[in-house]
Amino acid sequence: MAEKQKPVYVLNGPNLNMLGLREPEIYGDLTLADIETVCRGEADRLGLLVDLRQSNHEGQLVHWVQEARESACGLVINAAAYSHTSVALLDALKLLDQPVIEVHLSNIYAREAFRHHSYPSQAADGVICGLGIKGYVMALEAIASMRP
Ligand code: DQA
Repeated sequence: MAEKQKPVYVLNGPNLNMLGLREPEIYGDLTLADIETVCRGEADRLGLLVDLRQSNHEGQLVHWVQEARESACGLVINAAAYSHTSVALLDALKLLDQPVIEVHLSNIYAREAFRHHSYPSQAADGVICGLGIKGYVMALEAIASMRP
């Protein structure tokens, strides 16, 4: 029997549920629902399944990354502020054999110095930042192209 297709996990970190209200001069009027709609459309186009999740809690994100080891075929992660602080997330990401693409909506290198370092980058196959919602589309394309 054919093995069941595994989804790409698309994980969004803290305060990304507040997009639309949050710092519109940086993030525009984009909402998390918009990101989810675009990811679903792109996944359909690419023949991928997606599992979209958002949490404001570091431990929950770590748990989902651990779960992805068994349950996902790839991972797209915007760890938001935890990108700049979370060794725990980096350690969890290092356990993954699947492709990992890190996304940031904004160009973190054009912002405050504390945003210039990202822990997930050390475990990511690719990093996309500054391209807004398009970054998620490109991340899914990258994962589709990296499938065995
Ligand atoms: C972000 C950039 C982070 O520095 C910030 O804390 C976020 C969003 C982005 O998508 O541009 O919450 O990850």
